[in-house]
Amino acid sequence: MKLDEQGDWQRSCECGTLRRSDIGREVVVMGWVHNRRDHGGVVFIDLRDRTGILQVVFNPEESLSAHEAAGDVRGEFVIAVRGEIRERPPETLNPNLATGEVEVMVEEVRVLNRAETPPFVIDDEAHVAESTRLKYRYLDLRRPAVQEKLMFRHRLTKCIRDYLDQSGYIEVETPILTKSTPEGARDYLVPSRVNVGNFFALPQSPQLFKQLLMVAGFDRYFQIVKCFRDEDLRADRQPEFTQVDIEASFITPETMYELVEGLLEAVFALSGKSLERPFPRLTYADAISRYGIDRPDTRFGLELADVTDVLRTAELRVFRDVAEKGGLIKALAVPEGSRLSRKDLDTLPDEVSQFGAKGVAWARLTAEGWQSPIAKFLSEEQKKGVEVATGAEEGSVVLFLADKARVVNDSLAHLRIVLGDRLGMIPHDQNALVWVTDFPLFDYSEDEKRAVAIHHPFTAPFDEDLERLESDPLSVRSRAYDVVWNGTELGGGSIRIHRTDVQQRVFKQLGIDEEEAREKFGFLLDALSYGAPPHGGIALGLDRLAMLLTGGTSIRDVIAFPKTQRAACSLTEAPSEVDPKQLRELGLKINV
Ligand code: AMO
Ligand code: AMP
Repeated sequence: MKLDEQGDWQRSCECGTLRRSDIGREVVVMGWVHNRRDHGGVVFIDLRDRTGILQVVFNPEESLSAHEAAGDVRGEFVIAVRGEIRERPPETLNPNLATGEVEVMVEEVRVLNRAETPPFVIDDEAHVAESTRLKYRYLDLRRPAVQEKLMFRHRLTKCIRDYLDQSGYIEVETPILTKSTPEGARDYLVPSRVNVGNFFALPQSPQLFKQLLMVAGFDRYFQIVKCFRDEDLRADRQPEFTQVDIEASFITPETMYELVEGLLEAVFALSGKSLERPFPRLTYADAISRYGIDRPDTRFGLELADVTDVLRTAELRVFRDVAEKGGLIKALAVPEGSRLSRKDLDTLPDEVSQFGAKGVAWARLTAEGWQSPIAKFLSEEQKKGVEVATGAEEGSVVLFLADKARVVNDSLAHLRIVLGDRLGMIPHDQNALVWVTDFPLFDYSEDEKRAVAIHHPFTAPFDEDLERLESDPLSVRSRAYDVVWNGTELGGGSIRIHRTDVQQRVFKQLGIDEEEAREKFGFLLDALSYGAPPHGGIALGLDRLAMLLTGGTSIRDVIAFPKTQRAACSLTEAPSEVDPKQLRELGLKINV
């Protein structure tokens, strides 16, 4: 076999493009042998490229040499054929194929390359373990459905670039080898050879650089950019992922709401979805109160009700204790509760033990009154109070959880989704987008025993809360906002601190003293002091957006070469050990 079997042949068209109107054309097509069938002397090959599949026919009566050559061809061989587009005989029409009315009658074939038998069939129907698919990702990527996802992603990024360009935003690239930009995850570090003992950090986001671009007067910036976070992975998280990163000067949150709503409207249209604008808004406090979570799936009800005051004097010990200790008692009414069997109710505590919940009490509201292990501990007035608060009526099942606020909210938020799903209450064809606003500036970390930034340390506090920054930091609200789609956080952003003194006060609350602030963020503090305009922005998760728009459940599906759940690449086997010489040059010693 020559290296250049293609020779002077030029491809005249792609496989998936040929139609009835092409009948009679002489074509040269090239691609992979999807499958090969020998029908009593006539060989049929389905030839595949990224545009689709085309039937090519080797009939010894038309070309003996081509038919002979087709005898050696196997699945995934790369071939080129020259021949005429013919109409398929009526009995061989294939309505499932865009090219199903035509075929190529081959006059000449060139085998461009041979192929080993692949470890799995290149077919959308084939069920193959993900580990095998990722190891041979280049074969997995030959599958039409997987290719379609990446082609969609291409159209998605193009649409986003066009939209932001038309809105006056300029794409600027920011460094990958940089200093730590805290977003709450661990950094990936890169040792420096030139400055032994020093490290770059890969950016968790371009946050600080985009702020510096505002100080520089760029006014409206965007970037479709890789970010790196060393965190525990889930189906919607990767260690390297892509953000649509946006920043603008002289704006209010409304500027971002309008820009992002328009952007999402444009990209939803790509997959034939329409959106209602403006998106509803929920404050963080309302989101937690009604849904127990700051990224609520608002496609369905099943909202939570705070019944702490109603039940604080109940005879039931756990309720009284929790209320006394400043905890929370919340309830949730499931309509048509008969769909929940006793067994279902008994397994609810197992669903929520992962959040630290110690039990879930329940009550069935029947014509004869409350049927419940806790009914005897509740007065008629308390039962009535629960019914009013939760909207429960005859036939409902009410679920109760009493504990620390976080345990109650996390548990009920989870139960709400589990039950909504199990009882078919979630309208899967709907798209519920919502802005969650007014996040607290800080959260208290039990692990670190100090305040941590909920969004990031550069988020502006509400002016009217600023006076409580030192005296009651946890009560300070921030000008941060998230955009949430059907329970997934698509993006988050904020108005930033544009004054050095306020930024220093926030660092201080985060336990970063002046010296450390200088060392880590001196460049930002300096920049803010040279006339930083008020500014703010947002970043959207591009992989999540692509996953949701293509109807997937894992962002790995929309990333060409994703990492596994163990943050590794099974194709290249990265990360891997390095040469001792490289370590010596970097002044590093492995100590495990
Ligand atoms: P944030 O940390 O909220 O904000 O990130 C913005 C969006 O990026 C996506 N995302 C991820 N996607 C996949 N894998 C991950 N590991 C991952 N982590 C985050 C999410 C998220 O909503 N600098 C700020 C933005 C700003 O303030 O302008 C930031 O990075 O969809
Ligand atoms: P007990 O008195 O422990 O038998 O609990 C009575 C009922 O309350 C049972 O149905 C428990 O599942 C439930 N329960 C226990 N702890 C809690 C809690 N923290 N919140 C809500 N219900 C609970």
